[in-house]
Amino acid sequence: MTAPGSQDSLRLGVNIDHVATIRNARGGPHPDPVRAAHLVATAGADGITAHLREDRRHIVDEDMRRLKREISLPLNFEMAATAEMLKLCLEVGPHACCLVPENRNERTTEGGLDVAGQQTFLVPFVRELKDAGVRVSLFVDPDPAQIEAAAATGAPVIEIHTGAYYEATAATEPARIKSELEKIRAGAEFGARLGLEIHAGHGLTFLNVQPVAAVPEIRELNIGHFMIGEAVFMGLAEVVREMKRLMQDARTGGLY
Ligand code: PXP
Repeated sequence: MTAPGSQDSLRLGVNIDHVATIRNARGGPHPDPVRAAHLVATAGADGITAHLREDRRHIVDEDMRRLKREISLPLNFEMAATAEMLKLCLEVGPHACCLVPENRNERTTEGGLDVAGQQTFLVPFVRELKDAGVRVSLFVDPDPAQIEAAAATGAPVIEIHTGAYYEATAATEPARIKSELEKIRAGAEFGARLGLEIHAGHGLTFLNVQPVAAVPEIRELNIGHFMIGEAVFMGLAEVVREMKRLMQDARTGGLY
């Protein structure tokens, strides 16, 4: 277990989905998410995350194959737990796979996976990925029952859904922010005690990342929408450098 204010490393995984969203708005090859992945790697990111959605609204199958082939950073393949996705994931052979719930009509991933309610289905699903050498992560709300169920599947990692914290920060409601942050802290500590590696993500920005980055058990943040949007103003490399700086400052001195 790490001490509060720990300098233990905190990785940044950059989710490049929305580069593909812009590309797909026109239908041509530009802007290329794989080029964005090369750029964020050069700027100091520690991993690339991409979500292959059932409707292929942004990342498509060939993007995943190219990311694995052309990028040397670890690739985190986000997907729903379906037979179609499992087949593709095993074909691509990423470093990691994050299982997320998926509702076709949602704009983005709303809420964590109901691991407790799908245990029988998820245990063999997780095992198949693990047997293929893929590090499996389950995207869960900071709810002790879900975290305990995630550990029971045999997955080595959970990613804590920070969406409720994001919404509290967007509404600038201090009591709600404090309460959501407390759930993240308690969930991270509980998960680490169960032997899980803890990641977190969803809705993180320059303004709200530091309290989450300061949680000592969290080893990786996966951030997408804000970083790709902010790149319009600052440039993608500068956004990566600034996010890493904020994360490291929070880790070392709690500057927030
Ligand atoms: N982690 C997971 C599991 C996600 O599903 C997403 C959104 O695709 C993110 C992180 C990144 O969230 P955001 O785009 O809000 O930074």
